[in-house]
Amino acid sequence: MRRAIVRGTGHYLPERIVENSWFEDKLETSDDWIRSRTGIERRHFAAEGQTTSDLGIRAARAALERAGMEIGQIDGIILATSTPDFTFPATATIVQAGLGMSRGFAFDVQAVCAGFVFALANADAMIRAGQADRILVIGAETFSRIMDWTDRSTCVLFGDGAGAVILEAQESEGTSEDRGLLASDLNSDGKYRELLYVDGGVSATGTVGKLRMQGNLVFRHAVEKLASTAQTALGRAGLTAADVDWLVPHQANLRIITATAQKMGLPLDKVVLTVADHGNTSAASIPLALSVADGEGRFAPGDVLLTEAIGGGLSWGAVVLRW
Ligand code: UT7
Repeated sequence: MRRAIVRGTGHYLPERIVENSWFEDKLETSDDWIRSRTGIERRHFAAEGQTTSDLGIRAARAALERAGMEIGQIDGIILATSTPDFTFPATATIVQAGLGMSRGFAFDVQAVCAGFVFALANADAMIRAGQADRILVIGAETFSRIMDWTDRSTCVLFGDGAGAVILEAQESEGTSEDRGLLASDLNSDGKYRELLYVDGGVSATGTVGKLRMQGNLVFRHAVEKLASTAQTALGRAGLTAADVDWLVPHQANLRIITATAQKMGLPLDKVVLTVADHGNTSAASIPLALSVADGEGRFAPGDVLLTEAIGGGLSWGAVVLRW
């Protein structure tokens, strides 16, 4: 059978780094509160005029370089974002043009913080169906643009950035020993919209809006739903948590990551952690973490990687792959 294997990863973080202390004279908050409640120490913010597609293009170029590939070899781009450059066209098409690619397809996926997991699962399905041989899957966000800077319960949490992964078709045995994406699990439940949403949009208000979140309620859903979707995906792959070499979770909150890992019986030294330096970059967080860890040479061929994420919708899911 055809499998989608990872050929390369890359990422880009905007130059401007903002430490927790930056918020202290603007809001009633502290470095200590942010660190102890979230694990976040700093985040990157895009420069004025620097857009989601700018970050995505740089991450994509880095992934192409690491894979030793040319843009002409790519058949399609799937970009996960909730902070597109424009209402339309899809940010993926702006990235496509920026990369000098004028064939194939390019479209966006909108599943907020779970966006990259949804994009990866879609790219995998398209590759297995023979729709494309090589897909560039990108998560790119400029969440700093939808922050309410007077709301201390949200604006200290998020950051900007982009990560990219190149998937390539490969003939495989069709067993859990294969390299590449082995299984995924995707879920949404729209009745939880009020827990995490943006209070503006094209059709509803004609404005962009700001992010609103009932953090402690999202937190409770996160721990329960992430462990459950991860187990489902592992089961579909014919694997168990004991087979996992690396958990590469959505980087929203160190306490959520730790609780989920604990629930699955995974020690923290098997978990890729970037939340301290990146904050929550929504759909960009998993490809950023993958690229950072890959760049450090932490994944060995044959390693089983488990990614999981939850975000607005609520939408949540997991992907299991063999490196
Ligand atoms: O990526 C998408 C998914 N999103 C998430 O996964 C986020 C999930 N939620 C969380 O990570 C956590 O719920 C937060 C980090 C957002 C908040 O942590 P918490 O432990 O759940 O705190 P809380 O919301 O229950 O608030 C505790 C207290 C409150 O004060 P009172 O009511 O106890 O007096 C807040 O007003 O902390 C206060 N607080 C702050 N204090 C200082 C909230 N934000 C801040 C702040 N600085 N920045």
